[in-house]
Amino acid sequence: MQSTEPSEALEAILLVGGQGTRLRPLTLHTPKPLLPTAGVPFLAHQLAKAHAYGVRRIVFATSYRAAMFAEAFGDGSAFGLEIVYMTEESPLGTGGAIRNAAEALTCPPDAPVLVLNGDILSGHDISAQVALHRSRGAAVTLHLTEVDDPTRFGCVPTTPDGRVTAFLEKTPTPVTNRINAGCYVFQRSVIDSIPAGEVVSVERETFPGLIEAGELVLGYADGSYWLDVGTPAAFVQGSADLVQGRLTSSALPGTAGECLLLDGAMVSPEAKVTGGTVVGARATVEAGASVRGSVLADDCVVAAGAVVVDSVVGSGARVASGAVLREVVVGDGALIGAGNELMSGLRIWPGVTLPECSVRFSSDV
Ligand code: GTP
Repeated sequence: MQSTEPSEALEAILLVGGQGTRLRPLTLHTPKPLLPTAGVPFLAHQLAKAHAYGVRRIVFATSYRAAMFAEAFGDGSAFGLEIVYMTEESPLGTGGAIRNAAEALTCPPDAPVLVLNGDILSGHDISAQVALHRSRGAAVTLHLTEVDDPTRFGCVPTTPDGRVTAFLEKTPTPVTNRINAGCYVFQRSVIDSIPAGEVVSVERETFPGLIEAGELVLGYADGSYWLDVGTPAAFVQGSADLVQGRLTSSALPGTAGECLLLDGAMVSPEAKVTGGTVVGARATVEAGASVRGSVLADDCVVAAGAVVVDSVVGSGARVASGAVLREVVVGDGALIGAGNELMSGLRIWPGVTLPECSVRFSSDV
């Protein structure tokens, strides 16, 4: 993951206070950054990466279900980090959260501070981003990535020498396919200039304001692996990519391969489990079942002959015999009765029971 020497000790702020609405019902009880991803809480992958690039002290900007972060990561010593928690009583938006978290930084005003969105998987070289920031004396240096379809994102045009010229809202006719990749290097003094205790968006207010004021906002563009795991489809993709080693992570509990079986998982020798699937602790996949590219949470059951593709099955949920799920999220403890065929983006809320379906459809309907 790392291609240059780690930067000298760097402080970081991790934005983890969002409600993760697009990932409901998975985020009803667990914040998005704590969702089990390739066998560990999502953030474990980001912390491992930040550590590899020289971060030793990290401030979590929390809000939604804040207490769960300290329960999961404590003082950070298990990760070779010092973790400090700064909680907003009501969410302050990305800029307000960064400003609030900065109260816990120890670095001087002229030091660079790494700021990470808590829902991004990225293979980019943080040291190279910091080195560019330092060498050009920028106010902020943003990681930019190129996506095939920029219409779903705001886009970030730059001059040939990397100066960001605008932050453009989503549009059907984007001027570039470069987008904000959610990893920033800020001069600490720039963070300190964000108004305290107010709701502020870095994307809509801070960055456009800096550009307007003639400050140097730089883009660090690269073509490494990048994924925003904010939607169910992206979440299962990210987990499967980590399991298969498309993005290496030292936090992966095991070696990369077709699937990851957690402690006590039981997979019948007559079942097929492929495509980077995670089978959670004590989860069961019975004979004749086929599971591809999916996340099976702890204690769930995929019964004989069921098919689960690119889906999430919540903890303690049961997919009964012969049911078919494609791109579906099944909440914790839900029961999908035999013979049901569920497709494209359907979400089943926790504890819901779908009765057995006696009418069978052909799978190519
Ligand atoms: P959606 O509701 O599905 O859009 O997800 P989200 O709440 O995570 O929002 P979004 O993906 O836009 O947030 C980007 C990053 O900023 C995530 O890591 C969020 O946790 C974080 N974030 C967003 N708003 C806040 C906030 O008000 N406070 C804090 N501390 N973090 C925030």
